[in-house]
Amino acid sequence: MISVTGRRFHLAGKNFSYVFEADAAGYLLHLYFGPRIADEDISHLAAPSFLSFSPMPPQATSVDFSLDTAPQEYATYGQGDFRRPSAIYRRKGGRASNLRYAGYEIGENVVPQGLPHVRAGETLAVKLHDTLADVAVTLYYTLAPDSDVLVRHMEIEAGEELTLERAFSFSLDLPVGEYDVLRLHGRHLAERIPCRTPLGHGLCRIESSRGASSHQMNAFLAVMEHAAGEDHGSVYGFGLIYSGSFALEAECGQTDVRVQGGINDLGFSWELGRGEKFTAPQAILAYSSSGMGGLSRVYADFLRAHILPPKHVYSPRPIVINNWEATYFDFDTPSILKLIDEAAPLGMDTFVLDDGWFGARSDDHRALGDWYVNTQKLAGGLQPIIAHCKERGMKFGLWFEPEMISEDSDLFRAHPDWAIGTEPRCKSRDQYVLDFSRPEIVDEIYARMAALLTEYDISYVKWDMNRHITEFCGEKCRGREGELAHRYMLGVYALAERLTKNFPDVFFEGCSGGGGRFDAGMLYYFPQVWTSDDTDPFERAKIQWGTSYAYPMSAMSCHVSASPNHQTGRKTALSVRGHIASLGATGYELDLCKLTEEEKEEIKAQIRAYRETEELILRGDLYRLCDPFETNYFAELVVSKDKARAYLVGMTARFIPSDYNRRLRLKGLDENKQYHVRELGITLHGSTLMHAGLLIPKQHDYETWVWHLEEVL
Ligand code: DGJ
Repeated sequence: MISVTGRRFHLAGKNFSYVFEADAAGYLLHLYFGPRIADEDISHLAAPSFLSFSPMPPQATSVDFSLDTAPQEYATYGQGDFRRPSAIYRRKGGRASNLRYAGYEIGENVVPQGLPHVRAGETLAVKLHDTLADVAVTLYYTLAPDSDVLVRHMEIEAGEELTLERAFSFSLDLPVGEYDVLRLHGRHLAERIPCRTPLGHGLCRIESSRGASSHQMNAFLAVMEHAAGEDHGSVYGFGLIYSGSFALEAECGQTDVRVQGGINDLGFSWELGRGEKFTAPQAILAYSSSGMGGLSRVYADFLRAHILPPKHVYSPRPIVINNWEATYFDFDTPSILKLIDEAAPLGMDTFVLDDGWFGARSDDHRALGDWYVNTQKLAGGLQPIIAHCKERGMKFGLWFEPEMISEDSDLFRAHPDWAIGTEPRCKSRDQYVLDFSRPEIVDEIYARMAALLTEYDISYVKWDMNRHITEFCGEKCRGREGELAHRYMLGVYALAERLTKNFPDVFFEGCSGGGGRFDAGMLYYFPQVWTSDDTDPFERAKIQWGTSYAYPMSAMSCHVSASPNHQTGRKTALSVRGHIASLGATGYELDLCKLTEEEKEEIKAQIRAYRETEELILRGDLYRLCDPFETNYFAELVVSKDKARAYLVGMTARFIPSDYNRRLRLKGLDENKQYHVRELGITLHGSTLMHAGLLIPKQHDYETWVWHLEEVL
């Protein structure tokens, strides 16, 4: 619901309200973000007034007004607000800006062109004019149907020449209070580690300047009331629908907390000529009064319903056998055919040929960009492999790394200037990044990929990205280097858009050296993303746990791999690996030829069991029960929306001899329903399961257990 009373705006989702006003002088003041309130009461909300040492702008209509203390919707620069501005634009007249209200419009979903976005909604567009410059800023607020999320973005139109130095998507000033911030940091093989710290005075800023949202810091920040926990209390979530360099800030000042974010301003600049516009990516703002768990469910529901590709989001996922950890680069046609022979009877339905099938790619030092089948390695090319899959009722998928170029490649020999940067360049995994800010390069990569997707029956594409951008410069962007990082992302999105549109039946999986680009931007094109290169179930449980703070389970691609694990050397049972991989879009990535007959039978049973619970993974509500970072246990429970079914996976990190009486209290069930717990052969009420709980089974190191719960009618 969007309601406007005079110059007050009330945006209400299912459970939240967001209120702001244009005051008499035209300043846009933030008034409220929290649980839903009655529309007729919003006239009672008031912005706090000023303090000593807070200057009054010339246009202020009351003597106690200062931009330094006023809670704002989008902060300007150089008019007495000493907090961080939302945008800075340099022009002949300087950098100061003074944005004032100039009207509004309400209409159908307005989306940022060329960027991933919410797919449906109603948009309030609030127009602001700068009294100091010929500049117009429009703030967009979109409410998606049946959702608890507010989507914001910003567009700036220059009436005079200017250089944008900062152009955040959103800003808001939360009331003074005791807050914590939660971020998801990490590294390759250990993505999205939750880190909660008190928000002290000053600036808390998380960012990526790597040209990708990154393993190191996810494009998501939660601001929680200090008293809030997993299941209770006020939590605000701020996520970006963007996959490039980003920044999110929470600035605790003298009167409030300013939260804002968008494209990273470090190294960013953007030239605008007269009449030109710049559009910032969308941000997801959400509020929950049910703690971090509630916020995660709001995010998951929103992403599934309004961001992920509708065609694939709720359909049963391909259960792949991927050859990467089975063979790495060491494969040929006979070894691949053998793998397919093993996979089909086990119930895997898609074979994905990973890195190494193209050009002279015998290792990771060469051939990126040469998207031609290596017929020396694969006798007869892809056709015999695809035919083999089909004969066994399987589909075929192919790996690409579209954004990259190796120095040792035909593509680089033909177009040395296509790599970002100038000589000498940094190498990472011995490769360079293609300059996707240049449309002709994106066109060429599209043509090469489209040719393969047209010629062959390919039903699945894994889109990888294995290095970050170091030198933000290139032959064609001299003087406009500050634009490169974002123009690069626009090129990536243009390619993803074209491929997914023109090949709508192909299922795309995102990847970036594991989960280095796991964000709402990529999820707009790819229904799932490879969560991490670490497939050890104990490590994976933690990575999936952290990822679930901001993303749905079905978006996490999770594979059963070999034991001992290739990353950690840890030995775990096949059942353990299967259980942890069942908490996402499951798949397999190991040499099936080495399995015993018992293991094969076990995998068949795993796949049957997965298909039974898959609906829960695709549509259910996730409840985090035991935090593997804080306790000796891991447990997650997913409950169907009608609360008739639930599925729990638990893990014990270390066997502790006398730790027998630990009870696990379930969550999210219906107190009054009776549930049969299949594995325990007992039937109990939801109230008992949630309040008295069940005993954690006695287990050895790194062992898992599952409980299937079914309502007894
Ligand atoms: C990194 C990915 O995360 C792996 O799954 C695999 O595809 C390799 N790249 C291939 O180079």
